Amino acid sequence: MKVRRCMSVFFEMRERNRFDLGSLLAGGNGLISERGWVALAPHLEGECQVCEAEMLACGSFSPEHWTTLEGEPTAEITRLLEVGLLVADVAERSPSRDADDHYRSLHWWPLAALMQRFTRWDAVDSVGSMQRLGTNTVAGLIKHCGPPPPATLDRVAMGPDVRLEQYPHRDLDVLFARRFTCRNFDTGRALEREYFSRMLERVFAAQGRVEQGDGVEFLKKHTPSGGSLHATECYLIVQHVEGIEPGLYHYRPLEHALRPLPAPQAPLRDLACTLLAGQHWFARAPVLVIYAPRVARSHWKYRSHPKAYRALLLDVGHLSQTLYVSATDLGLGAFVTSAINEAQLEQAFGLSVLEQGAVAIGGFGWRSAEQEIAELDPVTVCRRG
Ligand SMILES: Cc1cc2nc3c(=O)[nH]c(=O)nc-3n(C[C@H](O)[C@H](O)[C@H](O)COP(=O)(O)O)c2cc1C
Repeated sequence: MKVRRCMSVFFEMRERNRFDLGSLLAGGNGLISERGWVALAPHLEGECQVCEAEMLACGSFSPEHWTTLEGEPTAEITRLLEVGLLVADVAERSPSRDADDHYRSLHWWPLAALMQRFTRWDAVDSVGSMQRLGTNTVAGLIKHCGPPPPATLDRVAMGPDVRLEQYPHRDLDVLFARRFTCRNFDTGRALEREYFSRMLERVFAAQGRVEQGDGVEFLKKHTPSGGSLHATECYLIVQHVEGIEPGLYHYRPLEHALRPLPAPQAPLRDLACTLLAGQHWFARAPVLVIYAPRVARSHWKYRSHPKAYRALLLDVGHLSQTLYVSATDLGLGAFVTSAINEAQLEQAFGLSVLEQGAVAIGGFGWRSAEQEIAELDPVTVCRRG
């Protein structure tokens, strides 16, 4: 049998406390601290604990060249093959060998792949956890985390501050001043098809295309994009838009069209709430937008590049701001959140974390007249100065 190490693996030293009756009876605090190594490999679904001997055995194999094993594999090698940190060149391919080959083909910069894999949530109820911790209120936050760093920074001055003038506001200043995150959508009011269409046109449509031959095509959009690659795909949960069947869609930027996707098993509102990690206030938006960068498009140019992932995340932030401003201009409310359950999202939309993992969910629609959940409405916020 020939064996090689998986392409990328990092080992983290962790310490965990566990309850121990013996320690309590002996007059201790009842806790035993244990240290151990955890292997984090982006091609594997989850982390796995390894002992020091396994870690060292793993490091003795090349990720590039196959090593022929003579005789029976050691206990360490057997375990590493079982968990997928080593892969074998045998006729019946294992799921971890396939996953490792797939990961290799995607050209991730390893630390970025780790971030993408291990920041992913699976059925997390972020609202419930904040309520349990008491961090859903300012008082609870201070109790749990202490006072925050100040809202602004005071650097040591090398001279008097240079005071800047304030000029009369122009249309764009007025528009920016009206923008605020909406947490109270009017569930009784459908979004007009015209507003829906305008929003998608402004934020996600291609305004033009530049063909450069050999399959190289660049799109021109309203929002800038790293490498001009516009890798972010827009998936939609349409809940309440006039003339559009509620369901899941993929937006086609050249055609300015929606492609219907398979219907989910759960009702749309329940699915929305799950994907939004329990944030029911956002789940009521008539339109939810999933920002999912297509990694292969970015890695075509930025292959194994330490900045590629950063550019993908920045792209999503830029798109989200265009969405916010466009919604504000139309009198609509908008939001964005990165507190999302990627695992359920991938399942619903047929995505895969290392190829097209979602980064954030946004949404838009009519605001409710009532403010049940807190918002920073500029009308109620004190002005500067
Ligand atoms: C990256 C990002 C993540 C956010 N995540 C959440 C979230 O999980 N839940 C939420 O209610 N608001 C979320 N927000 C909205 C912020 O809380 C909001 O922008 C902030 O309170 C300032 O208020 P404003 O947008 O009305 O000016 C997020 C905003 C950004 C930019």
